[in-house]
Amino acid sequence: MQLPAVVLPHGILGISNSEVKVDKTEGKFGPFSGQVFIGDMGQSKIMRVVLEKVKGEYQGVAFDFRSGFQSGVMRMDFDNNGNLFVGETNRGWGSAGTTNSGLEFLTWTGRIPFEMKTVKSMPDGFEIEFTKPVDKSSAEDLDSYKGKSYIYKYHAAYGSPQANLETIKIKGVKVSEDGYKVRIVTDNLRPFYVHEITLNGVKEKASGQLILHPTFYYTLNNIAEGDKLVLTELSTKRSSKIKKKVAKKKPRTSKKVVAKKNPILTDEQIQPLLTNNTCVACHHKDKRLVGPSFKLIAKRNYTNEKIVELIYNPQPKNWPEYATPMAPMPQVPKDQALKIAAWINALD
Ligand code: HEC
Repeated sequence: MQLPAVVLPHGILGISNSEVKVDKTEGKFGPFSGQVFIGDMGQSKIMRVVLEKVKGEYQGVAFDFRSGFQSGVMRMDFDNNGNLFVGETNRGWGSAGTTNSGLEFLTWTGRIPFEMKTVKSMPDGFEIEFTKPVDKSSAEDLDSYKGKSYIYKYHAAYGSPQANLETIKIKGVKVSEDGYKVRIVTDNLRPFYVHEITLNGVKEKASGQLILHPTFYYTLNNIAEGDKLVLTELSTKRSSKIKKKVAKKKPRTSKKVVAKKNPILTDEQIQPLLTNNTCVACHHKDKRLVGPSFKLIAKRNYTNEKIVELIYNPQPKNWPEYATPMAPMPQVPKDQALKIAAWINALD
């Protein structure tokens, strides 16, 4: 079996990927020359992928790139000036861009965005290259990074939750002299898994701005060979430790906590459940996407148990105006389905 070079996590980096286009504009389109762009219909956006060969096999990293197209992104082509023309349709199926068709183009402003240019596999982690130098103290702070890894099931049912999810601990960081590169040393590198790391605290040196798209998704078919960094070369500082020490000195105020039985989760608490189970690929709280908005579903006055049943066994005939039926999702754990159902019903 030929393994995928790069996995685009379902419902995160698209849901129905379309054309693949290599940037051969030699810089006219911005700092990502030679990289690969991949469109998506359902989420009406474009992702960016960079490949490398490790032990003779292609693998690499994927990032979010641009979203907000008016319809499903299907075809892409560069003109001679380095503009990316995008041919769009959702052929009546519904997509994040709400019109049935469109023709738009992306043009580079000439300003370099603060982004991760690429990520490479290292024997002890990853090397991240940026489009502009990073602020050293934010990049050396281990609390600026958060990681997890997962894989997907290969089975007959549509979609798969992220399986065998584990966190990745960042053990140390080394920032290059010029600030363009950061080596991160991690535990728990797992061949074939998607390694998802978010750089939520790394800032640009000149402006102090955060990274435009702070998360990378690296598909690690092979772990690169080479020299590992020694711990003495690494920064292992954590800003949270310093803050906690300060916080401890404050006098404690006692608060009574009233425990509620099965409280309905907030929008923020429900989000990871909707994301991990890929509901967000097709449903939005307020807006029609591929499927109806959760608010509209709430108006049907189902019981929580009925909603769980419909997740496991959808009834497309209940929604005749939606062209793509929802596939049965037996892989959603029951306790999670119940929490989602209670949250949906509370929206009415
Ligand atoms: C691939 C797209 C897709 C995904 C993924 C998806 N849905 Fe749906 N969903 C739809 C569509 C389309 C409809 C309306 C047509 C239908 O029921 O088939 C729908 C309908 C529903 C309904 C109403 C059922 C009814 O009969 O009234 C509920 C509840 C629902 N979805 C919940 C969820 C939840 C929760 C998730 C995540 C676990 C999810 N959906 C994932 C596309 C999707």
